[in-house]
Amino acid sequence: MGVKLGILGLGTVGTGTVQLLQDSTGRHPLLQEIEIYRVGVRSLDKPRAVELSTEVLTTDLESIVNDPAVDIVVEVMGGLEPARSLILKALSNGKHVVTANKAAIARFGAEIFTAANQAGVYVMLEAAVGGGIPVIQPLKQSLSVNRIHTVTGIVNGTTNYILTRMQTEGSNFNDVLADAQRLGYAEADPTADVDGLDAADKIAILASLGFGGRINLQDVYTEGIRQVSKTDIAYAEKLGFVIKLLAIAKRDTPSSPLSVRVHPTLVPQAHPLASINGVYNAILVEGEPIGQVMFFGPGAGAGATASAVTSDILNLVAVLKTNTAVANPLLTCRHQEYCQIAP
Ligand code: NDP
Ligand code: HSE
Repeated sequence: MGVKLGILGLGTVGTGTVQLLQDSTGRHPLLQEIEIYRVGVRSLDKPRAVELSTEVLTTDLESIVNDPAVDIVVEVMGGLEPARSLILKALSNGKHVVTANKAAIARFGAEIFTAANQAGVYVMLEAAVGGGIPVIQPLKQSLSVNRIHTVTGIVNGTTNYILTRMQTEGSNFNDVLADAQRLGYAEADPTADVDGLDAADKIAILASLGFGGRINLQDVYTEGIRQVSKTDIAYAEKLGFVIKLLAIAKRDTPSSPLSVRVHPTLVPQAHPLASINGVYNAILVEGEPIGQVMFFGPGAGAGATASAVTSDILNLVAVLKTNTAVANPLLTCRHQEYCQIAP
């Protein structure tokens, strides 16, 4: 029997995910096992870039999370509510959840993971940080034995795209922001990008995973790029720097307090993060004994994000198909609230 997906949202990420699922040839064999069963949207009248039968599309998102036939709920609608309530409902109904929603995870992660543990199901969030870059699972799993000192990232594609074009083309902030919106990089409310809030959500998630413990967003110093002018960028360049919006989580010694912050930063031109341009993101993790590890790739956009969402879906399909936790990379996670027992 196929694994039935209930997808909440058919915008940039939802559409990219459906396109990837519908074009399975030459990709992972488990894709054949997946059925796009229901897709929830706000408006049935909007033109869509993907073909779905009328029985699949619905504006009744509650009916998706309550439908006993749905195995996995894929939340790609964004926002805090009703996304949070729908995720919690899906979990309490015994469904696994994939989400790209960093805003919801950064605020309600503890509640969501507690609900998942109680229900014995998984929540997967690879797309929530770094778009298509695999960074959540490596931090949870492959690097979990390390004592992490610093996580430094360019984790917002929109602002990096804006800063890059201001630097290389002398473009105007507002024009480039409009391009980022057209290309599907920006949040529904781009204030979240421009003012550093999206980056704050993402570094809070990375810090929770890398250092353990819950990060309160109020404790994350957050400054965006509104004040950065073309003159600032030109002077920085003359002095041998580029301006990047960095998200930083840092603990100097195992007993010192964790500092988590987001702000425009003068980055020396020779630094590995200085050459990350456009919509690309990079996350530099420094720990002991590993030393430095950098994750790099497209940080936003339909295809890249769909890649991360679909990899999470495939992990869950593997779990459902084998009825074991073979794909369970979550057990080694060091942050209890983001870790899960096998279902
Ligand atoms: P969009 O705004 O493009 O799409 C949102 C979709 O959700 C739309 O299909 C919309 O329906 C539907 N929707 C939203 N609210 C409701 C509601 N209350 N009831 C019913 N349907 C609703 O967002 P994105 O695809 O860009 O982003 C989705 C999520 O993915 C967000 O959490 C975002 O932060 C995250 N993300 C986005 C990335 C990107 O590159 N865009 C990258 C990584 C993560 P309708 O189409 O009818 O309006
Ligand atoms: N608006 C976000 C960005 C999408 O620009 O990085 C990816 O999370």
